[in-house]
Amino acid sequence: MQRLDIGQFRNIETARLTFSPGLNLITGPNAAGKTSLLEAVYCLGRVRSFRTAQPDQLIRQGQSAFRIVGRVGLPDGRVIPVGIERRPGNYDIHLEGRPLRRLSDLAGRFPVHLMTGDTANILNGGPRYRRQSLDWALFHVEHSYRNAWQRYARALRQRNAALKEHTPVAQVTVWDSELVAAAALLDHLRRDYLDELSRHVARELAVLLPGKEFVVRYQPGWARDLSLPEALEKSLEKDRVRGYTHAGPHRADYSLLLDDRPVQAHYSRGQQKTVIVGFLLGQVKLQHALEVPRGVFLLDDLASELDVEHQARVLAGLAELETQVFVTAIDSRALDLAAWPVHKRFHVEHGDIREVVQ
Ligand SMILES: Nc1ncnc2c1ncn2[C@@H]1O[C@H](COP(=O)(O)OP(=O)(O)OP(=O)(O)O)[C@@H](O)[C@H]1O
Ligand SMILES: [Mg+2]
Repeated sequence: MQRLDIGQFRNIETARLTFSPGLNLITGPNAAGKTSLLEAVYCLGRVRSFRTAQPDQLIRQGQSAFRIVGRVGLPDGRVIPVGIERRPGNYDIHLEGRPLRRLSDLAGRFPVHLMTGDTANILNGGPRYRRQSLDWALFHVEHSYRNAWQRYARALRQRNAALKEHTPVAQVTVWDSELVAAAALLDHLRRDYLDELSRHVARELAVLLPGKEFVVRYQPGWARDLSLPEALEKSLEKDRVRGYTHAGPHRADYSLLLDDRPVQAHYSRGQQKTVIVGFLLGQVKLQHALEVPRGVFLLDDLASELDVEHQARVLAGLAELETQVFVTAIDSRALDLAAWPVHKRFHVEHGDIREVVQ
């Protein structure tokens, strides 16, 4: 993203910013508006916030709407405008001057990768967070995934509705062949992607946390020693009692292991944060290898939980992405920017964002 204009978003009244294609370092005291700036970039790419499920909270207090306009570079060299405006209850989104029809049109052109405290949900949250992150990645890299996912979701909805209404068994199992067919594709794509991801992340972590062996362990959503039809048959009675389907890709999960131990249970918070950064770096590098358009990488609060040495390693890892990066920090004096020939600094106070001329 080359330029960004923000109006009445959180505590930012107005901002007109021109970014570096490399590193953009955003500093300022607590409550200045650093995370809000990242949130604005995120909102432009994903049409939601990573901090609230209520978009109206993003509108600056006392105002009737926020507006964000960005200029986004495409792989073919064109630069297109993307605009988003929110009035209470309603989003208005424009891509290249036309109203946006599908969110995926935007996400496909301007992928936004985020690393905040919340990303730790990949480690500490429920399986839902890990599935969401996996689905989001696969929507980008594999076009058949979305279709299989929709087919699966539809069959599952119908099957669960039949279970809930206590219909005869045949009206439940009539959905199984469609469910199993779509599930086979989801499972196959997820398994391959996580294998590949595991290798990419291991490569990052060999630098970030030397000497430890990393793997992603995948659980498909049913017992490994059964096929899905067998698992469905085995849980049918339980499904009928509880009124929902117990086995299938909607229950899939994965865990991150270092030296065969779950990261969230056996490692320090700093090590966990490093693993998450390595995980995201690996994910972005894999997406580049699969020719997903380059987007931006947002890293909130670099210094929290990381010592100076790990901060430097993370920055060096980000530099290798050759993508645009936004990093916030309360104080940047200790940061070594040697790996970043191209960078800009911004300082934020009371919602006022200024480029620091060096
Ligand atoms: N809708 C809103 N209107 C006005 N101000 C808001 C709105 N929503 C949040 N704020 C305020 O904006 C300020 C900036 O918050 P933000 O989280 O961006 O700060 P920060 O620089 O990331 O701080 P920290 O270093 O503590 O993480 C906060 O004081 C917050 O209360
Ligand atoms: Mg913050």
